[in-house]
Amino acid sequence: MKMWDGRFNKPSDRLMEAFHNSLPFDKTLLDEDIAGSAAWSRALKSAGILSAGELAKIEKGLRRIAEAGGKNALAFLPADEDIHMAVERLLTDKIGTAGAKLHTGRSRNDQVATDVRLYVKKSLSAIIESIALLQKALLARAEKECDIIIPAYTHLQQAQPVLLAHYWLSFLFALERDKDRIAHARSTADQCPLGAGAVAGTGFAIDRGELAKDLGFSGPMPNSIDAVASRDYLLEALSAIASIGITLSRYAEDLIVWSSKEFGIIELDDAWSSGSSMMPQKKNPDSLELIRGKCGRFIGNYTRLAVTVKGVGLAYFKDLQEDKEPLFDSVTNIRITLAVFRRIIATLAVHRTAAAALLDPLLLATDLADYLVVKGVPFRQAHKAVGRIVAYCAENKCAISKVPVALLQSFHPLFGRDAVKVFSWERALAHREVLGGTGRKSVARQIAQAKRILRKGPR
Ligand code: ARG
Repeated sequence: MKMWDGRFNKPSDRLMEAFHNSLPFDKTLLDEDIAGSAAWSRALKSAGILSAGELAKIEKGLRRIAEAGGKNALAFLPADEDIHMAVERLLTDKIGTAGAKLHTGRSRNDQVATDVRLYVKKSLSAIIESIALLQKALLARAEKECDIIIPAYTHLQQAQPVLLAHYWLSFLFALERDKDRIAHARSTADQCPLGAGAVAGTGFAIDRGELAKDLGFSGPMPNSIDAVASRDYLLEALSAIASIGITLSRYAEDLIVWSSKEFGIIELDDAWSSGSSMMPQKKNPDSLELIRGKCGRFIGNYTRLAVTVKGVGLAYFKDLQEDKEPLFDSVTNIRITLAVFRRIIATLAVHRTAAAALLDPLLLATDLADYLVVKGVPFRQAHKAVGRIVAYCAENKCAISKVPVALLQSFHPLFGRDAVKVFSWERALAHREVLGGTGRKSVARQIAQAKRILRKGPR
């Protein structure tokens, strides 16, 4: 028996029932549905629809359902087609007539919109906290590793020397933007649809401002059609999650490469690696590979919902029931992915000697060109002269740092005896104290800035 079966002459086909039933996944919204129903019953009482006694019964019944839900002890029936119907049915079974009054003036359309917005707000706050924890692990590494110099890469070719701390901080600041996007998505979700009814607004004198406040929303949604139809806030949340996924995936990619024998800069802790079933020597960075792999589902979940919503007119159509699985999947997986990355960062080992061994003096070719610029040579000419020196070194298999001054002068007369001083890692760092650069003082300033950001705490 269905709650809506009054105008029907036969029951749903069993296959239709299975096709239609969203309870297997939307039971995730149990707590939100109960909170929404309790607030709605208080609003009905204020509007004179429920008596104080009926309200008390409903609130108590809902509390019991929440307790049983917490223990995984709710007995759902096949006819409970979604969590909203299930809660109402369980309540009515428990308390009788008062329960049957709960749905007065409410529709599952404003109910589900409210539940999902509550869930999104709660989940995005948790994601913000998980990002902050990963940032703290990165900050700890940056503070510890401000004396290690590594090659920075572009095109996966050695480019210029940087402090390893500078690299960890790049990750931290990228995550800060991801956090901003999540915080923005949370504020978009922070409006209460309840009281919109099915589409036209509830037919009872509900104080929607009070109701929104009761549920912890910043205010009510101003238009009932938009309130039940909008899913753009979900797209914003899924896009913000996908953006975190992309950030994590890119850094995972680097660390996978760095943990190879060829680079050898880092080594994952055993607890975050896996072995091979066949090759006894293998220690694979599976955790990082999975982080990179998970990114596909974050982008997929955004795309899936965008494609679902784009053809849905106003206001509610059942297509919109398809919004929940991608949402739950992205929320669950981004939280675990962030937690895993944080532990990988906190436990990995940095191999200083391997990092030092990677440093090729050619990383200082730009500094050699800059040396000529300081002597008054236009940069393009300096670049060409140094390019020729690099080609000479490649042909003659010699290190650029070992080319005698007389030979340097044959490429450009303005090279002096002090040119050899260019071949110092410390000098290269010291020349990059520009804001945001990899100079030691600049990195210390970035660390201070990162600390200020993290002290602000979760927003
Ligand atoms: N389970 C439905 C969903 O998730 C709830 C809303 C049902 N509304 C309706 N008009 N059938 O979208």
